[in-house]
Amino acid sequence: MKKENFGGRLGIIAATAGSAVGLGNLWGFPYRAGVNGGGTFVLLYILFAIALGFPVMLCEFIIGKNSNNKSVLKAFTEVKSKDNMDNSKFNISSYFAVATSFLILSFYGMIAGWSIDYLVKSINGGFGKFDVEYSSNYFEALTVSIPRSVGYHILFMVITIIVVSLGVKKGIEKISKIMMPMLIVIILILVGYGATTNGFNEAVSFLFKPSVMPSDGVQFGKVAVNAMGQAFFSLSLGSAAIMTYATYVDKKEDIVSISKQVIIADTMVALLAGLAIFPFVFSAGMKVAEGPGLIFVVLPVAFASMGYGDIIGVIFFLLVALAGFTSAISLLENISAPIVYKLNSRVKGVAIAGALVTIVGMGSQACFSFSVPFLEFIADNQLDQFDKLTAYLMPLVSFFVVIFIGYRADVDVIKSEFKNEKLAKMFLWYVRYVAPILIVTVFVSSIVGQ
Ligand code: TRP
Repeated sequence: MKKENFGGRLGIIAATAGSAVGLGNLWGFPYRAGVNGGGTFVLLYILFAIALGFPVMLCEFIIGKNSNNKSVLKAFTEVKSKDNMDNSKFNISSYFAVATSFLILSFYGMIAGWSIDYLVKSINGGFGKFDVEYSSNYFEALTVSIPRSVGYHILFMVITIIVVSLGVKKGIEKISKIMMPMLIVIILILVGYGATTNGFNEAVSFLFKPSVMPSDGVQFGKVAVNAMGQAFFSLSLGSAAIMTYATYVDKKEDIVSISKQVIIADTMVALLAGLAIFPFVFSAGMKVAEGPGLIFVVLPVAFASMGYGDIIGVIFFLLVALAGFTSAISLLENISAPIVYKLNSRVKGVAIAGALVTIVGMGSQACFSFSVPFLEFIADNQLDQFDKLTAYLMPLVSFFVVIFIGYRADVDVIKSEFKNEKLAKMFLWYVRYVAPILIVTVFVSSIVGQ
């Protein structure tokens, strides 16, 4: 099969930022900031994005770009190694990375499906009747309703499958180049509107004023672990995403500056999402620590109580759905690419991977609707379990990624990505001695803190 590449730098940035910016920014970041006491979490999140996000992303880019257009499952052995070391064991990390994407997409598709339901609801009648009780009942009813929840899930997945099967340039890159600018415009409109509400000042200080001791019994260690998990998830790290896209990147592209730009874009969108959402929450006098239901349960009530709430509701859920799409596209590409290589057919590979992940995703739905005997081993909620499992897998994969670049890859491979040797040396030093220790520290404390 003829190998496809991205058309150019802009396409790479749009697709990679599209992968990173998703439900993690619009649903995960605000709800976690809310639960973890605000400012301290936000500050730690930014620090982790810089201190870990950047090196891990660049390492993934280097591996993918040097994999000689092979599938990510073979990427580690394709990169030129130091002293001809045998790196085949490192390829196991790629299998874990692809499995991580599979698990994430299985529940991601369902949550994105909910956002379509809310989009339809906001267009079709709006949230006029929503008070706190009505809103929680509505959400509850949606999660247990097979026709709605599964229906929208399937719809979402089918569109994703179609886009990915169109290919890297005609599908992924093209859609990302249209959707990403739309997304930025929409989020700026929402922040602009939020700034006119009387909850804006409170939102700003909640998000940007770190307290020395996080309040309300929230422990610092937990906040740090959550902030790191959020950074990995939000930047699509440790889940084959960057590595897979990097296999379509031309040798001449500057992946150091692309990584920087993607990290800045993703962090900006998360912060803007906070600035868009919390003013509504505060001005309607709602609870910030609502948890995963924040955007689905709390926001509609806020929209119901404010001027232009109906229009804002439509715009907001359109934003969530769009952001969900570009990330799901990336997740599905990661899962399909190895099958596409194997079968030598993009359409077949994507269809098989897409169908499988959609079916497994229905397990999450089943857990809401019935108590399924054979699924009892994952307690009664597959979504939560997969979410927790992937929160361990992402740092684990990232650990092997930085170890590989730090100790196994040929130093010239790294040097060739930097403009000057000093920077390359600093990066190598950091990747050898700092990044792995940081990952292990937070990883261990997350296990101990359970
Ligand atoms: N970054 C995505 C978000 O914020 C979620 C995600 C994690 C992801 N890993 C991924 C998306 C891999 C695409 C590929 O919503």
